[in-house]
Amino acid sequence: MSIKVAVLGANGQLGQNLQKWHQENNPTGEWYFFSSADLNICSKEDLQKHFNSTSSFDYIINCAAYTEVDQAEFSKEKADEVNHIGVKNLIETFDSSKTILIHISTDFVFDGKINRPLTEKDTPNPINYYGLSKYKGEQEIRNNVKKHFILRTGWLYSSLGKNFLQTTKRLERNNTQLSMIYDQVGTPTHAEILIQAISKIMESKSEAYGIYHIANEGVASWYDFAYEILLSLKSNCKLNPILTENYPTPAKRPSYSVLDKSKFKNEFNVEFPHWKESLKGCFN
Ligand SMILES: NC(=O)c1ccc[n+]([C@@H]2O[C@H](COP(=O)([O-])OP(=O)(O)OC[C@H]3O[C@@H](n4cnc5c(N)ncnc54)[C@H](OP(=O)(O)O)[C@@H]3O)[C@@H](O)[C@H]2O)c1
Repeated sequence: MSIKVAVLGANGQLGQNLQKWHQENNPTGEWYFFSSADLNICSKEDLQKHFNSTSSFDYIINCAAYTEVDQAEFSKEKADEVNHIGVKNLIETFDSSKTILIHISTDFVFDGKINRPLTEKDTPNPINYYGLSKYKGEQEIRNNVKKHFILRTGWLYSSLGKNFLQTTKRLERNNTQLSMIYDQVGTPTHAEILIQAISKIMESKSEAYGIYHIANEGVASWYDFAYEILLSLKSNCKLNPILTENYPTPAKRPSYSVLDKSKFKNEFNVEFPHWKESLKGCFN
């Protein structure tokens, strides 16, 4: 029997990559891609229009989120409205006895004080409002929906949408030198890694519900990430390493947010490539 899949936030970075993957791979089932204009998760009316008893989905992939990390410090209500209340609205609307929710969350639920790869058992302690709103969204799901996969990732990039790779490319075109932070480390993660994880969950019809950490392998600072980007661009742009304190931002960021992927790798019998490998692939 054909499965029915709804993708929310379909015009964002991850959503666009899912649409591209869908076009190129033609996976089974009926796929519906909803942009924020088609379906606003803050609108109960929109949600009820699409998720009523006659149009039940097998999977909802929620890529919809408020992702302006710095702006969230000034627009706390907006971040909460989408990342927390929007998620609450969503789970109150669809039939959670039938539909499996695949929800995307973030490494920014952690405070960065643990200096080893973070597991799903580590306790979140967000240090910025974006992270807090995302954590509240996670909790709504964990407390109310049995059939859920919460996929936490970090430092997401791709050739589509807004992300560090695209920003660095733009800055490189207009500057002879760039300064990048070297005392924040995480793992640059290509959107295709997350899509592979999502497709693995669906094709295996897994019922191993819960939270999973998904990212490329390896560790990098923003400086390292930018260095590899400039190398791939064969750029002459000079790169200066700087400390976080020399680049103050409205939102604090965790100094360490490398994720431990063992739980997903063991459950689904997969390996993730090193981030440098995926970055090269992205340039090719
Ligand atoms: N980007 C990263 O580095 C990163 C890291 C870790 C985790 N994540 C998580 O990964 C997921 C995907 O991120 P992304 O990079 O694809 O973000 P993105 O490019 O900002 O996309 C988010 C999408 O959500 C849509 N949206 C916002 N409010 C909405 C609402 N009320 N109803 C429906 N849609 C709404 C946005 O639509 P508009 O464009 O119309 O506003 C946008 O298309 C998010 O859950 C994010 O928290 C991202």
